[in-house]
Amino acid sequence: MKILLVGSGGREHALGLGLQADPECNELHVAPGNPGIAQFATCHPLVVSDNQAIIDLAQHLDVDLVVVGPEVPLVNGVADLLRAAGIAVFGPSKAAAQLEGSKNFAKEVMADAGVPTARSFTCTSHDEIEKALDAFGAPYVVKDDGLAGGKGVVVTRDRQEALEHALACKRVVIEEFLVGREVSLFGISDGKTILAMQPAQDFKRAYDNDLGPNTGGMGAYSPLPWAPSEIIEDTHKKILAPMIAEMAARGTPFVGLLYAGLALTDHGTRVIEFNARFGDPETQVLIPLLKTPLASLLYRAATRNLEGVKLEWKNETAVTVVLAAKGYPSAPQFGDLLGDFPTVENTLVYHAGTSHNENGLVSSGGRVLTVTGIGSDLTEARDRAYRAISHISLDGSFYRTDIALNASVAEKGN
Ligand code: AMP
Ligand code: GLY
Repeated sequence: MKILLVGSGGREHALGLGLQADPECNELHVAPGNPGIAQFATCHPLVVSDNQAIIDLAQHLDVDLVVVGPEVPLVNGVADLLRAAGIAVFGPSKAAAQLEGSKNFAKEVMADAGVPTARSFTCTSHDEIEKALDAFGAPYVVKDDGLAGGKGVVVTRDRQEALEHALACKRVVIEEFLVGREVSLFGISDGKTILAMQPAQDFKRAYDNDLGPNTGGMGAYSPLPWAPSEIIEDTHKKILAPMIAEMAARGTPFVGLLYAGLALTDHGTRVIEFNARFGDPETQVLIPLLKTPLASLLYRAATRNLEGVKLEWKNETAVTVVLAAKGYPSAPQFGDLLGDFPTVENTLVYHAGTSHNENGLVSSGGRVLTVTGIGSDLTEARDRAYRAISHISLDGSFYRTDIALNASVAEKGN
């Protein structure tokens, strides 16, 4: 099978390695890719928001499958165009990607599917906004209805800040604050059947102890030793399967990766948000643990043939730590030289924001590398990830030192 993977981050580096490890994949192309991916796949220049360029490349290469990493081309409808051209694609149609593209749409589908989520109001006027803020009280949760590149959600006790964010949005979802641990749980869907992956936890704040600004994600681990044993089955039954059934009933089946961001509250599991693509950096811990060959799996999803497939996992634990550029997330500094670093056993260094210039390998994104350690438990996986990242030098860069720390202490105590 010949595959084109679209994207350039740590997520695509992990997906690319997973695809390439499947003997069914005999040619892997990535666009645009990055220097890490270029070590094992053929990279092609591409602007990911240019749908026509994606179609042209897929046709030119005559690929059997396109896997789309980021949300922007999906929300722009690239999957519809690929399918119309007769090319199998792992990624939802424009209509189905609205589960990520519009918070209000996701709420409507959840309501129709009976999927538990925070109570909410969708507002378009000043008056509605004021009423919604007062209906729920602090802490306020204010979400831009549309895609906002990770800057759409404000959670604050400051009513003025909440109001200003809401007024700056064209349409805004204001919802109840959920109390509970957060879990990311991904489903791989062919439109009719959805397979739940094992859960992961993502660390969104920039600094240790969950301080600092929200980011795209500073680290992750999987599996979660503290999660209820029935979490996968339960999420499949109450959330993923009803969503897939509802999308199919609406005539807009969801084919691709349905990312459920969950809060485990005292009243049960609630959906915080859906994304229509693999999460980053959760993918960097899930893919190295997945035993099921990835290329065949995503091809079966893309060709509506997942029935009867069971996901298999390695009996290991993975922890990933993001190396971020100085100034990330507000004003990341680029162009700094990455020193050579040794390979550490049982670790993987995924490139996220790197490029080559005349001096060598340099930083070119806010999240520069993602370093994953694999071990028999969280302590071992953490030690390996942190040992590997400590050998990497990049001027001004930083990383969180507490990824999976509490969970690993709790695991040892058990
Ligand atoms: P999102 O962009 O929807 O993932 O939101 C970013 C972060 O805001 C989430 O990871 C949560 O930590 C927080 N958040 C979003 N919605 C809620 C909510 N209803 N209650 C509490 N926290 C929330
Ligand atoms: N890890 C969060 C995201 O991918 O949106």
